[in-house]
Amino acid sequence: MAKVKLNDGLRRLREDYVFSEVAAKIAAFEETHPGRRVIRLGIGDVTLPLGQSVVSAMRVAVDEMSRRSGFRGYAPEGGYDFLRRAVSDAYAARGVAVAPEEVFVSDGSKSDQGNVLELFGDAPAYLPDPVYPAYRDANLIAGREVRPLYAGRENGFLPAPDQCAAEPALIYVCSPNNPTGAVCDRAALTAWVEHALHTGSVILFDAAYEAFASPGVPRSVFEIPGARGCAIEFSSLSKSAGFTGTRCAWTVIPRELECAGTSLGALWRRRRAAKFNGVAYVVQRGAEAALSPRGREECRERIAYYKENRALLARVLSEKGVYVAPGEDSPYLWFEIPGRGDSREYFDSLLSRYGVAGTPGAGFGKNGEGYFRLSAFASREDVLEGARRIREGR
Ligand code: MLT
Repeated sequence: MAKVKLNDGLRRLREDYVFSEVAAKIAAFEETHPGRRVIRLGIGDVTLPLGQSVVSAMRVAVDEMSRRSGFRGYAPEGGYDFLRRAVSDAYAARGVAVAPEEVFVSDGSKSDQGNVLELFGDAPAYLPDPVYPAYRDANLIAGREVRPLYAGRENGFLPAPDQCAAEPALIYVCSPNNPTGAVCDRAALTAWVEHALHTGSVILFDAAYEAFASPGVPRSVFEIPGARGCAIEFSSLSKSAGFTGTRCAWTVIPRELECAGTSLGALWRRRRAAKFNGVAYVVQRGAEAALSPRGREECRERIAYYKENRALLARVLSEKGVYVAPGEDSPYLWFEIPGRGDSREYFDSLLSRYGVAGTPGAGFGKNGEGYFRLSAFASREDVLEGARRIREGR
């Protein structure tokens, strides 16, 4: 047996990753119920195919790669200029100034939200509870102290800075929120920015679901004055352009953001050079197309489709008298289990009675117990079938 000391952080991950647990339970159910089609509303994985503009751009890029004159090897460190510019232009179209050099192209927000922790030394991390479990896991693996912030019906599932100590920390904010669908309005985000500036904290803002936000809801932390001095933003094409299997995202680190007199952007560039060789050229061309006017239109169609799915599911649950948390700006539906029952037991009963799989709230944290999440990223056919089974009780 090897005698090298293990990373104790990994051993602090007590349970299986909630989406792995759900996948295993569905696989076991399918094995014992071969004729029963499971309606999968668990992990938030998109089902609509890539838009035509993306596919065409990627075809052209593959063709270029097949010719000596158009072939490319390693991508530039921060991402190709054409994509960094396209991201910067997309922010500018919403009135937010982000320079191309502040954009770092990555293979996904999940990776970067964990990787970015390497920029920081000892500081606690404040995480909402319930929370997207990858944040918690990444912090535990890094050996960082994790401090949960209560999110429940009483505070609209939105923790506020009064739950934090007045000391420098990393603070995760996700809006529109996964898993609860809650959104921070300008006042709520401003309070976080002011707190971070006052305490010397850094906000890690997850904008993965920004494209689902209705007009008037902030889509970037950089819409808030002062945020450039205290925030890093993660954004992704996974949910808006259907890139969960294609992989392309970006992290924005403003030029002004410094810790101990050191530019975090410069440090991040150095860290990436040591550990990352970038995103495929073909994928970056697809991402550029997703941000073009036609690509954005295709994204809007997809988002409208998933939001309609959510509305259909919300309607059937509300008709049954279930409390559904407000979440019109999100692809997720967060609801209270009747009688605030055990969410893993509820998962089992929903699967065995209706053949519908969701995600138990406890998988998102202690305060998720008593709640359940359904993803609206399924096909319309599956959503209608799932809604019918729940409505008719079979
Ligand atoms: C979710 O279901 O919460 C997400 O889709 C998982 C992810 O983005 O990694």
